Amino acid sequence: MGLTIAQKIIKSHLVSGNMTVSSDIGLHIDQTLTQDATGTMAYLEFEAMGIDRVKTEKSVAYIDHNTLQTGFENADDHRFIQTTAQKHGIWFSRPGNGICHQVHLERFGVPGKTLIGSDSHTPTGGGIGMLAIGAGGLDVAVAMGGGAYHINMPKMLRVNLTGKLPAWVSAKDIILKVLQVLTVKGGVGKIVEYAGEGVSTLTVPERATITNMGAELGATTSIFPSDEVTREFLAAQGRDADWKPLASDPDAVYDEEITIDLSSLEPMAACPHSPDNVRTVRELAGMKIDQVCIGSCTNSSYLDMMRVASILKGKTVANNVSLAIAPGSKQVYNMLAKNGALGDIIGAGARVLECACGPCIGMGQSPNSAGISLRTFNRNFEGRSGTKDGQIYLVSPETAAASALAGVMTDPRTLGAENAIALPKTFLINDNMVIAPASPEEAKNVEVLRGPNIKPFPSTTALAPSIEAKALLKVGDNITTDHIMPAGAKILPYRSNIPRLSDFCFTVCDPDFPERARKYKKGIIVGGHNYGQGSSREHAALVPLYLGIKAVLVKSFARIHCANLVNAGIVPLVFQNQNDYDQIDQMDELSLPNIRAELESGLPVTVKNETKGFAFHADSPLTDRQRKMILAGGLLNYTKAKHHSV
Ligand code: F3S
Repeated sequence: MGLTIAQKIIKSHLVSGNMTVSSDIGLHIDQTLTQDATGTMAYLEFEAMGIDRVKTEKSVAYIDHNTLQTGFENADDHRFIQTTAQKHGIWFSRPGNGICHQVHLERFGVPGKTLIGSDSHTPTGGGIGMLAIGAGGLDVAVAMGGGAYHINMPKMLRVNLTGKLPAWVSAKDIILKVLQVLTVKGGVGKIVEYAGEGVSTLTVPERATITNMGAELGATTSIFPSDEVTREFLAAQGRDADWKPLASDPDAVYDEEITIDLSSLEPMAACPHSPDNVRTVRELAGMKIDQVCIGSCTNSSYLDMMRVASILKGKTVANNVSLAIAPGSKQVYNMLAKNGALGDIIGAGARVLECACGPCIGMGQSPNSAGISLRTFNRNFEGRSGTKDGQIYLVSPETAAASALAGVMTDPRTLGAENAIALPKTFLINDNMVIAPASPEEAKNVEVLRGPNIKPFPSTTALAPSIEAKALLKVGDNITTDHIMPAGAKILPYRSNIPRLSDFCFTVCDPDFPERARKYKKGIIVGGHNYGQGSSREHAALVPLYLGIKAVLVKSFARIHCANLVNAGIVPLVFQNQNDYDQIDQMDELSLPNIRAELESGLPVTVKNETKGFAFHADSPLTDRQRKMILAGGLLNYTKAKHHSV
């Protein structure tokens, strides 16, 4: 049986498991990327592994999210990441060099390679034929250390593209159409592969717009073939040698298939507040607007910006509209400056922003109250713009520019004949804002600079033969990760400062918990059903780890949080008899006298309530791999041990 493109890459990178749908597979990772908002934690985790140099072919640290420096915290984080990168063999893309996914596509992505990134839009790399997946910081740290990345083998969904896009209809309209058909849940557990005659009509940046928003489908990733178009793009980037052809076998089998006829598409818009709430621009035309933002990792390529510049040239932005434009990379920005297109953009009255995520991550440019904002971005969730009642519509750069001039939602097809804009034969190549890592010899003298906001990752040791600790906290059913580790603007700047974050741990349930945990230095948490539901944030396991939590004993776990506990090295335990929960009071003295031996041999875990004088059994819901991790003291130690044994 033939293979799909993704299956071919998976097969050539498989280090454990088999390729049966939904079974656990371990993948060798060639490249990693981080951005600054998640990068600090990923690098603290990497440091904690005690490995000198990254084992990947290429790891790149980007600064693009928190580039507004309104206090010392962000600048400290940038400096920490820069010096860590120098020391450990990671390339560093300085603030101002551009948005991670845009720059990675231009300068680092390689067809047929695997990439994981601590950012959900890492699948942008699929536009160049990479298997590019968004992952957690800890996963990225482990991959940098040479460990495998584990996922459940996805299903394959083929999107057949027929025909050719009409004038003024663009890649954004294709992915908005796919979102309309498949919805935001349509890609879950799947890899989306694009195929058919329409593929060769799309440039690499256009393909990358489509794979970027595969994240909004919930897909594991999306991928295009690597063909002659890909080769030309890489050649124009001076990277011919990175190209290799990649296509699915003619007899490849897909689990699902849909067809999109490009010739029949028209400009589309995702209406508030979901990327799959898609209507045609034609239906919305005439709606008064307040703001237009053009940029983000979805639509900030040279091609996007040139199309916008050609629409704006010689015109003026409508009085009622604020137009903000952020080119995706220094390469794009510089090319616009040199060929005069930047002059056309500035001349029309656009507010040009630095090459960064900017308004997409709420860093400035929030719309006015109830304001209608047209954005070329990928998400329009309520409040993400920074204005709670802002009404965000996701559109193509062409629709955005046409509307900015008219002051109302405008179908760009009303502009008349389209100026054909092609990709240049050579891009402007100047990597002076990418700093190469120090050589292994020089790296010994590199000092990692830590401002007061950078605190080490909590260390763990291999699981002891026994645990004796108090039930430091007893909670009920449905405890969320927000109860464990609250989020919010107040604590966001401390994401690289676990000691400071620990002041907030469980304070929603019990304001005294952090102080009590510090006093006793170790403890066990007792909980009810569905413990750890909600978001997947890894801090909800790392902060309790820092506070000395050794085990969590509950009636049942939410799946992702349970996995995060294992990664952190905290033993998850489930009551065999739920009545035992009722017989434990907070601050009872508990002991697990044979925990290590029992886990090693897969036996139920004996728990003694020393205060009340009775014993009972608990199960530990671990896979074989997780059991090894817990015995080693968590994912980092497990990876470190494997690395040292190689
Ligand atoms: Fe940045 Fe927005 Fe993309 S935050 S990485 S531009 S989704």
